[in-house]
Amino acid sequence: MNRGIRRREFLRHGALAAGAVACGAYLPHTAAGTASADSRIDVLLDEPLGAISPNIYGHFTEHLGGVIYDGLWVGENSPVANLQGIRKRLVEEMRKIKAPVVRYPGGCFADSYDWRDGVGPADKRPRRTNFWNDADTKAAPENHKYEPNRFGTNEFMRFCRLTGAQPYLAANLRSLPAEEFYHWVEYCNSPAGSTSLAEMRAAAGSPEPFNVRFWGVGNESWGCGGNFTPQEYAVEFRRFTTWLPHYGPELSLVASGPYSEETSWTRGFFEELLRKGADQLRSVYGLSLHHYAWNLSRGRTTDWDQGKGSALEFDPVDWYELLREGQRVEDIVEGHWRAMGEYDEQHRIKLIVDEWGPWYRPGSEATPGNLLEQIPTLRDAVFSAMTLDVFNRHPEKVAMANCAQLINCLNCLYLAHEDKFCVTPVGHVFAMYAAHQGGQSLRTVFSAPQVHYDRDAKPASFWGLQGSASLVGKELQLTVVNPHVGEARECTVAVRGGRIVSGSATTLTSSDIHAHNTFAEPAVLEPQTKKLDMSGAELAVVLPAASVNKLTMALG
Ligand code: AHR
Repeated sequence: MNRGIRRREFLRHGALAAGAVACGAYLPHTAAGTASADSRIDVLLDEPLGAISPNIYGHFTEHLGGVIYDGLWVGENSPVANLQGIRKRLVEEMRKIKAPVVRYPGGCFADSYDWRDGVGPADKRPRRTNFWNDADTKAAPENHKYEPNRFGTNEFMRFCRLTGAQPYLAANLRSLPAEEFYHWVEYCNSPAGSTSLAEMRAAAGSPEPFNVRFWGVGNESWGCGGNFTPQEYAVEFRRFTTWLPHYGPELSLVASGPYSEETSWTRGFFEELLRKGADQLRSVYGLSLHHYAWNLSRGRTTDWDQGKGSALEFDPVDWYELLREGQRVEDIVEGHWRAMGEYDEQHRIKLIVDEWGPWYRPGSEATPGNLLEQIPTLRDAVFSAMTLDVFNRHPEKVAMANCAQLINCLNCLYLAHEDKFCVTPVGHVFAMYAAHQGGQSLRTVFSAPQVHYDRDAKPASFWGLQGSASLVGKELQLTVVNPHVGEARECTVAVRGGRIVSGSATTLTSSDIHAHNTFAEPAVLEPQTKKLDMSGAELAVVLPAASVNKLTMALG
């Protein structure tokens, strides 16, 4: 499918060795695990894959629907608890998950945004038509359709400071000149008192530079970001990045990359970039990659609107189809990595998966009128865990990833409206997986019975267990997804080259695959942690059906 065209149309219109435990129950065991185990996971301590960049656990906030207004920003005078206008509960939750980096202000919005609109005295900022205006429904509040610019660069930097996350700004390449990119860098990074823009920043309360390191050069430049060919975009990329002001901290520039499998974009971009010599590669820190799982039609259509499924109403076949669509990201990462290696043999340039997640059809908004808001279920938790495991398994390739999006949109970690707030199952997965940040990724070998299901009277299958492992000091983290909607797995976990002295197991699951949290019932789905009372080189665990699991093990 030519997704570029389709999406453009859319955008236009609209337990254990010496003892046996379990993530759920204790099991009978032998010296080599359990007699009844049907699955096995080997963690190979002497096969490190590389350090897991904390930024793989990054986020994305766009001026879209209820992400900024009502989600992130409630305003200083709001009755909702806030820290200088920013929703306090959100800040607290993001600190808990060690949010490392946040991408802003889009998305497609970025290429229609003039950063100058969002700085200076708040009451003097202009009101503009939001990029997403056409897609917003009648129920959308005015500040979704017409951007008030109450939240801009300074407020975003405040949000980053409060949460402890690094900013990752996406510059407008489609509708602003390169000079404005230069000036935005100057506004953010020039030393206190050095330039007029530094003084303007100081007047807004921030004399010291923001020292923004990560800059995206456009967004989806094959589509909403300018409809470029990869060659045309490469020319623009060179022009926008040939000279930028540097004030000490390194600028890490992210080139707008392909959608999903489109390696022709990757190759076209690098070929054109290199026409001006190998030195050009130095200007690129990373190549962005977007992959959404949206087509649940089981091959019936490639239509962007028709192909989508419901977020809340689904059968087991839809559960597996979504996971299949998401699992594609592993081949996609490997495919682009190979293509990049044809031009950048040393693999200096990394992949930045700065938009990922499931995308459903409208209809499950927690707050009517919030464009692209969907209520994440257990299915999305399993999807997200599986995706983070993929990134963990490729630490040398993926330097950053940003879940789309943080709050009130798509695969959100949080839902909020006025004084209501809840952590979604996706948010709980990020909390469970935070322990992997900065760890040494280890090779793992999973063997488990495949999942078999009926796909329109044709047999289909999916892997039985998958996950990832990482080590920090003597603490080992093993995360495992059991995608089977009805079968638990009895699993032997072997730590090759090590001895487990203690540990715990955290599991997120439910007997209802549709389980989700709402404002009224915010704790339907929450992870449960149990101590693992065992020691040795192996342990036996029960991994419940439809579950995300984390085993934390102290090694002797
Ligand atoms: O995340 C929603 C949109 O999806 C982003 O604005 C765009 O980059 C992508 O098409």
